[in-house]
Amino acid sequence: MTLRTPVKTRSKLPDVGTTIFTVIGQLSAQHNAINLSQGAPNFSCDPQLISGVTRAMQADHNQYAPMTGLRPLKARIAEKIIDLYGTQYDVDSEILITASASEGLYSAISGLVHPGDEVIYFEPSFDSYAPIVRLQGATPIAIKLTVPDFAVNWDEVRAAITPRTRMIIINTPHNPSGQVFSADDLQQLAALTRNTDIVILSDEVYEHVVFDNQPHHGMATHPQLAERSVIISSFGKTYHVTGWRVGYCVAPSELMDEIMKVHQFLMFSADTPMQYAFAEHMTDPQTWLSLSAFYQRKRDLLQTLLAESPFRLLPSAGSFFLLADYSHFSDESDSEMVKRLITDYGVATIPLSAFYTDGTDNKLIRLSFAKDEATLRAGAQALCHVKPR
Ligand SMILES: Cc1ncc(COP(=O)(O)O)c(C=O)c1O
Repeated sequence: MTLRTPVKTRSKLPDVGTTIFTVIGQLSAQHNAINLSQGAPNFSCDPQLISGVTRAMQADHNQYAPMTGLRPLKARIAEKIIDLYGTQYDVDSEILITASASEGLYSAISGLVHPGDEVIYFEPSFDSYAPIVRLQGATPIAIKLTVPDFAVNWDEVRAAITPRTRMIIINTPHNPSGQVFSADDLQQLAALTRNTDIVILSDEVYEHVVFDNQPHHGMATHPQLAERSVIISSFGKTYHVTGWRVGYCVAPSELMDEIMKVHQFLMFSADTPMQYAFAEHMTDPQTWLSLSAFYQRKRDLLQTLLAESPFRLLPSAGSFFLLADYSHFSDESDSEMVKRLITDYGVATIPLSAFYTDGTDNKLIRLSFAKDEATLRAGAQALCHVKPR
């Protein structure tokens, strides 16, 4: 037997290991827990989308798509954005179809952030932002959203901006808090970035899931912010197909040029048959205009069902999520609470501390309502039985 000589590596992300998401996933599987944890829907997409993909495959659309995406799909996206938000993007040079929103985030950060730069983002946050920034040799600067309203303290942002600040990452509607930007937030952000070279990377994957008849205050609604923004969206989130891994990115051409260079060598192009199916599906604006009401019914159902539970729910203005507070009936850490909910009550949620790099524990758990009615009912019933500790 030949002895292996291990290759020495120097990790670029030495502190990144098994996340709490994996731990919870494994524990939930062992206990066959009702899944209110993940942001992935457990219901089917529109069958028309599946037949669209099937037809595209049968019509032999199985080779590389154009590098920046299928033109008819990009044209539909441009039309949608001008109709909804009022900003015109050039179909050829300012819209990119990506292999998921995650790829869009990676290509944008990698294309625009240099070693030594600083990138401001807000915690709790989606987990990929800070590691992608670090992979560029840049420094992520976390600013905590205020609790319990999960708003941005703009004075803190102003104080955190330095000559090295290259980018500010925004996420509205926000995962995990369910909070959204207001028109005033946009004004504040515009005032802070005016006459700077700061790029805004705006993760708007839940752009079509905004509740209570409120508009989505995305960067494309504000001409001055649109000029310096890269906006990321996800077909997976909009059309209940998170496994298809298709998203898109829009930005002014001088920013997009650099993003496309990374995308070209990372993916070259996104899945071809899916792009044909989305292009066909997007001829009907109802496919996105109906989404807020669809998810609002789910949010309302979960809120109603949990009215008898010991948890206090925080308001959710958008996204697939709401937060539940248990600080009045238990001193357990949020991870302990989540483990107890799985082992003793058979329901899986996510501790909010998983969204902070320093593990901040506000005694809040995140519930996903991107689930069918039976799952929401079963999950809520289990949560209603939770005993104080
Ligand atoms: C805020 C946010 N951004 C990006 C993503 C990734 O989206 P995609 O599945 O298209 O990569 C998610 C998925 O949960 C998310 O919640």
